[in-house]
Amino acid sequence: MRQLVFATNNSHKLEEIRRILGESFAVMSLADINCHDDIPENEPTLEGNAIAKARWVKEHYGYDCFADDTGLEVDALDGAPGVHSARYAPGEGHDSAANMKLLLKNMEDKSDRKARFRTVIALTEGDRIKTFEGVCEGAITTSPAGNGGFGYDPVFVPEGDDRTFAQLSADEKNAVSHRGRATVKLINYLRNV
Ligand code: IMP
Repeated sequence: MRQLVFATNNSHKLEEIRRILGESFAVMSLADINCHDDIPENEPTLEGNAIAKARWVKEHYGYDCFADDTGLEVDALDGAPGVHSARYAPGEGHDSAANMKLLLKNMEDKSDRKARFRTVIALTEGDRIKTFEGVCEGAITTSPAGNGGFGYDPVFVPEGDDRTFAQLSADEKNAVSHRGRATVKLINYLRNV
């Protein structure tokens, strides 16, 4: 069976991929290969970070690997927070409540609420790299709603719905989400190699 590392320790992301690829690929997490490195994510683009993470695993551990990076791009903020989405608010980063609070504050006087989530997945194949992109268009609300999901989900309404991502079931979100769309492209590709 072909072995492939997914450069994450997020159990939800891993479970999802394993359910789909489990029959043909042994998908391993970073913990599974004993990688506890703080992999640098300092590139100026989502694509650059996804490629850097996948390459890191290939170069240091020898396994082919795929890695993802996601950003929320808000038109009225010239594409911010974008590649800095995890650490938009000052502090350690990954503080979703602080990130959302800052986003809503910066959007207070904006009538253009258009935004999109973008995910890039990079896959190493020996020395080569292939990338897959998924986009979900939508809008930023004026206040948070819903308890599901994570990150900016309570303030993002996907196009064609009037509920936030945090008000959708996991299956409803996956069907239209940036990550869901990029993952489908990766899976279709892997099924044919
Ligand atoms: P990552 O590249 O998946 O780690 O995502 C970077 C940051 O984007 C996260 O820390 C979250 O703040 C945000 N983010 C990524 N995916 C989502 C999502 O599906 N919903 C809401 N926020 C997300």
